[in-house]
Amino acid sequence: MHRTFACLTTASFLMTTAIAAQGGPPQQGPPRNLQVLPRDMPRGQVMQVMRGFAGGLGVRCDYCHVEGPEKTMQSMDFASDEKETKKIAREMLRMAMDINTKYITQTMGRTLTERAQVGCITCHHGVPRPRTLQAELAAAYDSAGADNAVAKYRALREQFYGRAAYDFGEMSLVEVASDLGRKPDQRRDALRMLQLNLEFYPKSAVTYTGLGSGSLQLGDTAAAIASFQRALDIDPDSPMAKRMLGVLKK
Ligand code: HEC
Ligand code: HEC
Repeated sequence: MHRTFACLTTASFLMTTAIAAQGGPPQQGPPRNLQVLPRDMPRGQVMQVMRGFAGGLGVRCDYCHVEGPEKTMQSMDFASDEKETKKIAREMLRMAMDINTKYITQTMGRTLTERAQVGCITCHHGVPRPRTLQAELAAAYDSAGADNAVAKYRALREQFYGRAAYDFGEMSLVEVASDLGRKPDQRRDALRMLQLNLEFYPKSAVTYTGLGSGSLQLGDTAAAIASFQRALDIDPDSPMAKRMLGVLKK
């Protein structure tokens, strides 16, 4: 009893914030077109679920729901299935429910608390298309080259740094560089990714050993030695830097 009450109160609070964000109260009355959520779920609870969708994907209601001519919450047709994204979201909801019931509860015999359950945010972490930073940069590179990949990194970092959406840690650009470096004609671009990484991680020994290996592949032994030396200055234990300097300085 108490739980339902608390839940509904939170839901109506969330509803007011949603209204504040988009202006005008949403259409009232019980939901008419629920196909995955329980058909008789009260509107307040549906709203709470919807806040989870919007927050999980980092979008607003109109990403999935059609707006009326006035572009207000009041004129939105939430029951309509016109938008493709709403249809995908329904299948995603089915999938998430299956993961929690079939795969976790039934297969593993575990029951997760409500907060620990798999929801939209588990995969989407605040973006509509959940992809790793590496995948985003590889796509940017394949479509328009190194400048584009660098620009993409800067833009994503500007927008998402500090959020869960992408991993801007030390290793991401190192991984992108090592993928690029597998093809000989992409080796210079791989070095660019490592240079970019140094802007944000100037004391990254692994970035310098990457630069060393890349320079070596390009035939620039002097640059390779300088990079391995820099790696060793930063991390006197770096096995890679020690080994390579041992070989190169002979
Ligand atoms: C990622 C897509 C997505 C977003 C974003 C989203 N919704 Fe929904 N919404 C759905 C889906 C899917 C359903 C239908 C669920 C079902 O069939 O069980 C739905 C159903 C609803 C319904 C019930 C409509 C009816 O009459 O059947 C309401 C009301 C609603 N959403 C409001 C909102 C509000 C308000 C927001 C913004 C805070 C929002 N939604 C954001 C996908 C979305
Ligand atoms: C198990 C991981 C996972 C979960 C959980 C998940 N999604 Fe997704 N979702 C994906 C992946 C992967 C894609 C495709 C991304 C791409 O195209 O790069 C996707 C795509 C989508 C899209 C299409 C986006 C677009 O613009 O093309 C929508 C809408 C969506 N999900 C909604 C949801 C909603 C709502 C939930 C929660 C009910 C949810 N997803 C839960 C992994 C997940």
